[in-house]
Amino acid sequence: MAAAAAAAARVKLALVQLAVGAQKAANLANARSRVLEAARAGAQMVMLPECFNSPYGTQYFGEYAEEAGGESTAALAAMAREAQVYLVGGSIPERAGGRLFNTCTVWGPDGALLARHRKVHLFDIDVPGGITFRESDVLQAGDALTEFGTPWGRFGVAICYDMRFPEMAMIAARRGCVGMLYPGAFNTTTGPLHWELLLRARAVDNQIFTAGCSPARDAAVTYPTWGHSTIVDPLARVVATTGDAPDIVYGDLDMQLVEDTRRSIPVSTQRRFDLYPDVASQ
Ligand SMILES: *[C@@H]1O[C@H](CO)[C@@H](O)[C@H](O)[C@H]1NC(C)=O
Repeated sequence: MAAAAAAAARVKLALVQLAVGAQKAANLANARSRVLEAARAGAQMVMLPECFNSPYGTQYFGEYAEEAGGESTAALAAMAREAQVYLVGGSIPERAGGRLFNTCTVWGPDGALLARHRKVHLFDIDVPGGITFRESDVLQAGDALTEFGTPWGRFGVAICYDMRFPEMAMIAARRGCVGMLYPGAFNTTTGPLHWELLLRARAVDNQIFTAGCSPARDAAVTYPTWGHSTIVDPLARVVATTGDAPDIVYGDLDMQLVEDTRRSIPVSTQRRFDLYPDVASQ
């Protein structure tokens, strides 16, 4: 709580719901102009969507992948510096040691790398008579939880399907994070069912801000993206959201609300870890 008390009181967060196409250079240029637009509108923290430099699909990851220091991460560092914002750089296919990861990098306003999250839960689904999508055919899972510090408090980062695993957000909150940030790309089936519900659930369980940033619906429909980039407050109210078109979603986050919510509904101090110390052992 001491850290939270020392943190600046309000931050303007922007979610860039980017139109992502097949041309990587065009995606990077478009991201740059939208991040600068958000900064001109007063945003101090900006998030880009999952897979913002490449179409989303296992068939694209190898072609679009880059090593650390490649053109996309260089572009993100330059954007953060030029716009003078904390930049949660969506995600990109990353190549490291001959393997591919779905990776989010976070940058400070000086262009320094603050954190790197490699998606830890790979999206493998096989619906009988429906779709099959196996990220693990081409991607490796990351093996770490990720946080970074800002003048407004610490934030956790996770990617898309990671949102369905409540432990990550709970651990971040118990370590003192004031928010969880999720670049993600739900589809038009799971989006209306669960996207907002999961953001609100992670917020209400942990009394933190949550935000999910999606690409806009792809005109070529290589993947049926739900969009609806959304910011939720610690009382689980939707602060701001949008439809499926390219847009920038803004929210003014009052960090005092984290402490106030935790004080008025004290679930964080009333847990019975004597009854459920380790749910994995049940
Ligand atoms: C979206 O993904 C779910 C599984 O997560 C799948 O059942 C569904 O068919 C997909 N919808 C579309 C429109 O691809």
